[in-house]
Amino acid sequence: MKNKKHIAIFASGNGSNAQQLMQYFQHHSAVEIKLVVCNKPDALVLQKAATMNVATFLINKEELKTAEKMLPILQQHQIDFIVLAGFLLQIPNWLIQNFPNKIINIHPALLPKYGGKGMFGRFVHEAVIEANENESGISIHFVNENYDEGKIIFQAKCSVDENETIETLSKKIHALEHEYLPKIVEQLLNE
Ligand code: GAR
Repeated sequence: MKNKKHIAIFASGNGSNAQQLMQYFQHHSAVEIKLVVCNKPDALVLQKAATMNVATFLINKEELKTAEKMLPILQQHQIDFIVLAGFLLQIPNWLIQNFPNKIINIHPALLPKYGGKGMFGRFVHEAVIEANENESGISIHFVNENYDEGKIIFQAKCSVDENETIETLSKKIHALEHEYLPKIVEQLLNE
Protein backbone atom coordinates (compact mmCIF):
# COMPACT_ATOMS: atom_id res chain seq x y z
CA MET A 1 0.00 0.00 0.00
CA LYS A 2 1.31 3.41 -0.84
CA ASN A 3 -0.01 6.57 0.73
CA LYS A 4 2.07 9.14 -1.13
CA LYS A 5 1.95 10.38 -4.72
CA HIS A 6 5.05 9.21 -6.56
CA ILE A 7 6.89 11.56 -8.92
CA ALA A 8 9.50 10.86 -11.58
CA ILE A 9 11.67 13.78 -12.68
CA PHE A 10 13.10 13.67 -16.21
CA ALA A 11 16.24 15.78 -16.66
CA SER A 12 19.19 15.91 -19.05
CA GLY A 13 21.75 18.22 -17.51
CA ASN A 14 22.70 20.17 -14.45
CA GLY A 15 19.51 19.38 -12.57
CA SER A 16 19.15 22.46 -10.37
CA ASN A 17 15.36 22.23 -10.69
CA ALA A 18 15.46 18.52 -9.98
CA GLN A 19 17.49 19.22 -6.86
CA GLN A 20 15.04 21.87 -5.74
CA LEU A 21 12.17 19.40 -6.15
CA MET A 22 14.03 16.64 -4.31
CA GLN A 23 14.74 18.99 -1.40
CA TYR A 24 11.23 20.44 -1.26
CA PHE A 25 9.58 17.04 -1.11
CA GLN A 26 12.23 15.31 1.00
CA HIS A 27 10.09 15.12 4.15
CA HIS A 28 6.70 15.74 2.57
CA SER A 29 3.69 13.90 3.93
CA ALA A 30 1.91 13.39 0.59
CA VAL A 31 4.50 13.45 -2.20
CA GLU A 32 7.70 11.51 -2.82
CA ILE A 33 10.27 11.93 -5.57
CA LYS A 34 10.87 8.31 -6.50
CA LEU A 35 12.96 8.39 -9.64
CA VAL A 36 15.18 10.58 -11.81
CA VAL A 37 15.19 9.62 -15.50
CA CYS A 38 18.09 10.92 -17.58
CA ASN A 39 19.39 10.46 -21.12
CA LYS A 40 23.00 11.58 -20.48
CA PRO A 41 25.32 9.26 -18.54
CA ASP A 42 27.55 12.17 -17.43
CA ALA A 43 24.78 14.58 -16.41
CA LEU A 44 25.23 16.25 -13.03
CA VAL A 45 21.62 15.53 -12.15
CA LEU A 46 22.55 11.86 -11.66
CA GLN A 47 25.01 12.77 -8.91
CA LYS A 48 22.47 15.06 -7.31
CA ALA A 49 19.90 12.25 -7.27
CA ALA A 50 22.44 9.84 -5.76
CA THR A 51 23.24 12.34 -2.99
CA MET A 52 19.53 12.58 -2.19
CA ASN A 53 19.12 8.78 -2.30
CA VAL A 54 16.74 8.95 -5.24
CA ALA A 55 16.84 6.09 -7.77
CA THR A 56 18.02 6.90 -11.29
CA PHE A 57 17.29 5.39 -14.67
CA LEU A 58 19.29 6.03 -17.84
CA ILE A 59 17.56 5.85 -21.18
CA ASN A 60 18.69 6.79 -24.68
CA LYS A 61 16.76 8.41 -27.50
CA GLU A 62 16.02 5.12 -29.29
CA GLU A 63 14.92 3.31 -26.15
CA LEU A 64 12.54 6.11 -25.22
CA LYS A 65 10.61 5.65 -28.47
CA THR A 66 8.92 2.48 -27.22
CA ALA A 67 7.42 1.52 -23.87
CA GLU A 68 9.41 -1.70 -23.58
CA LYS A 69 12.26 -0.56 -21.32
CA MET A 70 10.79 2.40 -19.56
CA LEU A 71 7.17 1.56 -18.73
CA PRO A 72 8.05 -1.37 -16.42
CA ILE A 73 10.39 0.93 -14.46
CA LEU A 74 7.70 3.58 -14.07
CA GLN A 75 5.25 0.88 -12.98
CA GLN A 76 7.73 -0.66 -10.58
CA HIS A 77 8.12 2.73 -8.85
CA GLN A 78 4.33 3.27 -9.02
CA ILE A 79 4.83 6.67 -10.64
CA ASP A 80 1.74 8.91 -10.66
CA PHE A 81 3.17 12.09 -12.09
CA ILE A 82 6.12 13.15 -14.28
CA VAL A 83 7.96 16.47 -14.17
CA LEU A 84 10.22 17.41 -17.07
CA ALA A 85 12.91 19.69 -15.64
CA GLY A 86 15.38 20.41 -18.39
CA PHE A 87 14.72 17.15 -20.29
CA LEU A 88 15.74 17.57 -23.88
CA LEU A 89 14.25 14.56 -25.67
CA GLN A 90 10.76 14.63 -27.11
CA ILE A 91 8.19 12.79 -25.02
CA PRO A 92 6.74 9.92 -27.10
CA ASN A 93 3.02 9.33 -27.55
CA TRP A 94 3.01 6.06 -25.64
CA LEU A 95 4.14 7.93 -22.52
CA ILE A 96 1.58 10.71 -22.93
CA GLN A 97 -1.16 8.12 -23.37
CA ASN A 98 -0.11 6.30 -20.21
CA PHE A 99 0.00 9.52 -18.18
CA PRO A 100 -2.83 11.72 -19.49
CA ASN A 101 -2.56 15.20 -17.92
CA LYS A 102 0.06 13.81 -15.61
CA ILE A 103 3.19 15.12 -17.34
CA ILE A 104 4.30 18.73 -16.97
CA ASN A 105 7.25 20.64 -18.35
CA ILE A 106 9.03 23.79 -17.25
CA HIS A 107 10.10 26.13 -20.02
CA PRO A 108 12.39 29.14 -19.52
CA ALA A 109 10.31 31.72 -21.46
CA LEU A 110 6.80 33.07 -21.75
CA LEU A 111 5.16 30.54 -24.06
CA PRO A 112 3.82 30.55 -26.73
CA LYS A 113 6.82 32.72 -27.56
CA TYR A 114 10.29 31.17 -27.75
CA GLY A 115 9.17 27.55 -27.64
CA GLY A 116 9.52 24.60 -29.99
CA LYS A 117 12.27 22.29 -31.14
CA GLY A 118 15.81 23.51 -30.40
CA MET A 119 14.53 26.11 -27.96
CA PHE A 120 16.12 25.14 -24.69
CA GLY A 121 18.29 26.67 -22.02
CA ARG A 122 20.64 29.40 -23.23
CA PHE A 123 19.27 29.35 -26.80
CA VAL A 124 15.97 30.61 -25.43
CA HIS A 125 17.63 33.45 -23.48
CA GLU A 126 19.77 34.37 -26.48
CA ALA A 127 16.68 34.64 -28.71
CA VAL A 128 14.82 36.74 -26.11
CA ILE A 129 17.73 39.19 -25.78
CA GLU A 130 18.26 39.40 -29.53
CA ALA A 131 14.60 40.24 -30.04
CA ASN A 132 14.94 43.15 -27.59
CA GLU A 133 12.17 41.87 -25.36
CA ASN A 134 11.80 43.83 -22.15
CA GLU A 135 10.40 40.89 -20.23
CA SER A 136 10.79 37.14 -20.10
CA GLY A 137 9.77 34.50 -17.59
CA ILE A 138 8.87 30.89 -16.99
CA SER A 139 6.01 28.70 -18.19
CA ILE A 140 4.83 25.49 -16.57
CA HIS A 141 2.58 23.52 -18.90
CA PHE A 142 1.07 20.11 -19.57
CA VAL A 143 2.92 18.05 -22.15
CA ASN A 144 1.22 16.98 -25.36
CA GLU A 145 2.50 15.58 -28.67
CA ASN A 146 4.00 18.90 -29.79
CA TYR A 147 6.99 20.57 -28.17
CA ASP A 148 5.92 23.30 -25.73
CA GLU A 149 2.30 23.47 -26.92
CA GLY A 150 0.32 21.86 -24.10
CA LYS A 151 -2.03 23.83 -21.86
CA ILE A 152 -0.26 26.47 -19.76
CA ILE A 153 -0.69 26.02 -16.02
CA PHE A 154 1.40 28.87 -14.64
CA GLN A 155 3.64 31.72 -15.75
CA ALA A 156 5.82 34.21 -13.88
CA LYS A 157 7.69 37.15 -15.35
CA CYS A 158 10.99 38.95 -14.92
CA SER A 159 12.46 42.01 -16.60
CA VAL A 160 15.00 41.86 -19.39
CA ASP A 161 17.18 44.87 -18.69
CA GLU A 162 19.56 46.86 -20.82
CA ASN A 163 22.91 45.07 -20.94
CA GLU A 164 21.21 41.80 -19.99
CA THR A 165 23.37 38.79 -20.88
CA ILE A 166 22.48 35.15 -21.36
CA GLU A 167 24.09 34.47 -17.98
CA THR A 168 22.24 37.18 -16.03
CA LEU A 169 18.91 36.27 -17.61
CA SER A 170 19.49 32.59 -16.98
CA LYS A 171 20.07 33.38 -13.29
CA LYS A 172 16.81 35.31 -13.02
CA ILE A 173 14.91 32.54 -14.77
CA HIS A 174 16.39 29.83 -12.59
CA ALA A 175 15.46 31.81 -9.47
CA LEU A 176 11.83 31.96 -10.65
CA GLU A 177 11.84 28.27 -11.55
CA HIS A 178 13.23 27.25 -8.16
CA GLU A 179 10.69 29.40 -6.37
CA TYR A 180 7.60 28.22 -8.21
CA LEU A 181 8.06 24.74 -9.68
CA PRO A 182 7.83 22.76 -6.41
CA LYS A 183 4.78 24.76 -5.28
CA ILE A 184 2.95 24.26 -8.56
CA VAL A 185 3.68 20.52 -8.51
CA GLU A 186 2.35 20.36 -4.96
CA GLN A 187 -0.82 22.23 -5.94
CA LEU A 188 -1.45 20.00 -8.94
CA LEU A 189 -1.06 16.86 -6.84
CA ASN A 190 -3.46 18.22 -4.24
CA GLU A 191 -6.23 18.76 -6.77
C1 GAR B 1 15.67 25.15 -17.06
O1 GAR B 1 15.85 26.55 -17.16
C2 GAR B 1 14.47 24.72 -17.85
O2 GAR B 1 13.46 25.68 -17.92
C3 GAR B 1 15.08 24.52 -19.23
O3 GAR B 1 16.32 23.92 -18.98
C4 GAR B 1 16.83 24.43 -17.75
C5 GAR B 1 17.34 23.27 -16.92
O4 GAR B 1 18.04 23.75 -15.81
N1 GAR B 1 14.23 23.72 -20.05
C6 GAR B 1 14.13 23.91 -21.37
O5 GAR B 1 14.75 24.77 -21.97
C7 GAR B 1 13.12 22.99 -22.07
N2 GAR B 1 12.86 23.44 -23.38
P1 GAR B 1 18.45 22.80 -14.62
O6 GAR B 1 19.09 21.55 -15.25
O7 GAR B 1 19.43 23.57 -13.82
O8 GAR B 1 17.20 22.44 -13.87
